[in-house]
Amino acid sequence: MQDVEAIVKEALAAFAGIDDADRLEQAKARYLGRSGALTQLLKGLSKLPAAERPAFGSRINVAKERLEAALEEQRDRIRARQLEARLTGESLDVTLPGRGPATGGIHPVTRTMERIETLFRSMGFEVADGPEIETDYYNFTALNQPENHPARSMHDTFYLADGKHLLRTHTSPIQIRYMETHRPPIKIIAPGRVYRCDYDATHSPMFHQVEGLWIDEHITFADLKGVLVDFLRRFFEREDLRVRFRPSFFPFTEPSAEIDMSFGEGWLEMGGAGMVHPNVLANVGIDAEKFQGFAFGLGPDRLAMLRYGVNDLRLFFENDLRFLKQFN
Ligand code: DAH
Repeated sequence: MQDVEAIVKEALAAFAGIDDADRLEQAKARYLGRSGALTQLLKGLSKLPAAERPAFGSRINVAKERLEAALEEQRDRIRARQLEARLTGESLDVTLPGRGPATGGIHPVTRTMERIETLFRSMGFEVADGPEIETDYYNFTALNQPENHPARSMHDTFYLADGKHLLRTHTSPIQIRYMETHRPPIKIIAPGRVYRCDYDATHSPMFHQVEGLWIDEHITFADLKGVLVDFLRRFFEREDLRVRFRPSFFPFTEPSAEIDMSFGEGWLEMGGAGMVHPNVLANVGIDAEKFQGFAFGLGPDRLAMLRYGVNDLRLFFENDLRFLKQFN
């Protein structure tokens, strides 16, 4: 039979070498379990002479307590080691940059439109709009554009399959819709998308226009010039910006002009304008003897290209984030 001290020594060494909770409990059973080494010794107690029993019994009890205490310490050690392992495994590197919320940005053309609206509102213009799918009447006829006008051709205009509707080719039909429901004084701009069968570096099948319309009793071409010069100088923040009107033709204005502007080197075409044709006023029941005014159509995409130094209009509409992110 093994000696108590020998058993204790062996058990302590065994416990100390174990770093797994289950295996530690198995080792405990080998010494303290029902058929464990110490328990066996205790069972042999009855075979000892009566006088030796108490001393031997108490040695075994002391040994049991030592082993229990050693087990408890080893359990604590194992738990502490597991906790430490978990903490290192789950640790966060707080020096990494955070992900942050993914913020969107405003499209450069939208920015430009907002800027245009702000500037015109500050000059007393209201903002109006109208449908992108138009009828022949609003897009052409009411604007004094006869049936056989070349702008109506399939070549330029996207017609819908019903043959009655089309994608508006300009924002001018909003003039008609607005004048049908409002009486002078009328002072509006109407920004929006327009569509034409065109595609190159300065033309996209979808592009934008801003229509302007000011009708009252004494509005003249001088007012048109004042408004456009003021707007363009404020838009580009250039006091030296110059504006030039070139004689032109539009069915819905008389006289008509192309608007050019210059920062000093060469002229850039920015849109069309003119005095609203008496036929157009008659079409919406406004007395052309009493009221007159001007209209203009500007190209905000062109304004955005110049403001941001973009040389291909199509870049605005390809949704390439590498391009768009530069504006935010
Ligand atoms: N609607 C014309 C176009 O798309 C632009 C334009 C020219 C609008 C003269 C006007 C205007 O209001 O008076 O080409």
